[in-house]
Amino acid sequence: MKEISLNILDIAQNSVKAGAETVRIELKETTETLFVSISDDGCGMKPDFLAAVTDPFTTTRTTRNVGLGIPLFKLACEQTGGEFSIVSRDSENFPTDHGTTTSALFYKTSIDYTPLGDVISTLTVLIQGAPEIRWVFTHTLPGGEVRLDTDELKEALGGVPLSHPEVVAWIADYLKEQYDGANGNPCPSI
Ligand SMILES: Nc1ncnc2c1ncn2[C@@H]1O[C@H](COP(=O)(O)OP(=O)(O)OP(=O)(O)O)[C@@H](O)[C@H]1O
Ligand SMILES: [Mg+2]
Repeated sequence: MKEISLNILDIAQNSVKAGAETVRIELKETTETLFVSISDDGCGMKPDFLAAVTDPFTTTRTTRNVGLGIPLFKLACEQTGGEFSIVSRDSENFPTDHGTTTSALFYKTSIDYTPLGDVISTLTVLIQGAPEIRWVFTHTLPGGEVRLDTDELKEALGGVPLSHPEVVAWIADYLKEQYDGANGNPCPSI
């Protein structure tokens, strides 16, 4: 069993490999459920391939002939009594409107629920690894919302690369501060 943030890392890496320009990671959390959606505008998958993609032996990897990212994400949510879905439009049939959305609903009350884990590290690893992509992250929690859009950041940074170590550290702090607010932690006194 692993943290859901590692599943999110796997699924978002599929979006990077699919040549996405924009990847949206959306988390919606209530006291009882966690909904995760990863959406990209990459090359997409043809219907026959898509139908088989939750099978571990479906992969376009050349280094090994099993692909586990999608089957493990599906298993993790279904083990909690939740649901998995993947929708895709391939670039050949949908030249202007292609991409993939992978989503999963988790029941946090299940004994088989693995915690979300370190989603901030997942995001910084993704951004650092693919700074050319527009990453849009939202996490809605019962106590508030956490948001990051790398396009907005790029504008503010005026040319400093997103992969610069200090920028990466700043992103992690920026997210952490928002989580402190959304989790109801009091603001530090000045
Ligand atoms: N967002 C996506 N866009 C386009 N193709 C995708 C996307 N996600 C998955 N695929 C295709 O589905 C295959 C299976 O994905 P999966 O994540 O299960 O395994 P993998 O990426 O091949 O290997 P692993 O995740 O174990 O490194 C991929 O090889 C890729 O061809
Ligand atoms: Mg994968």
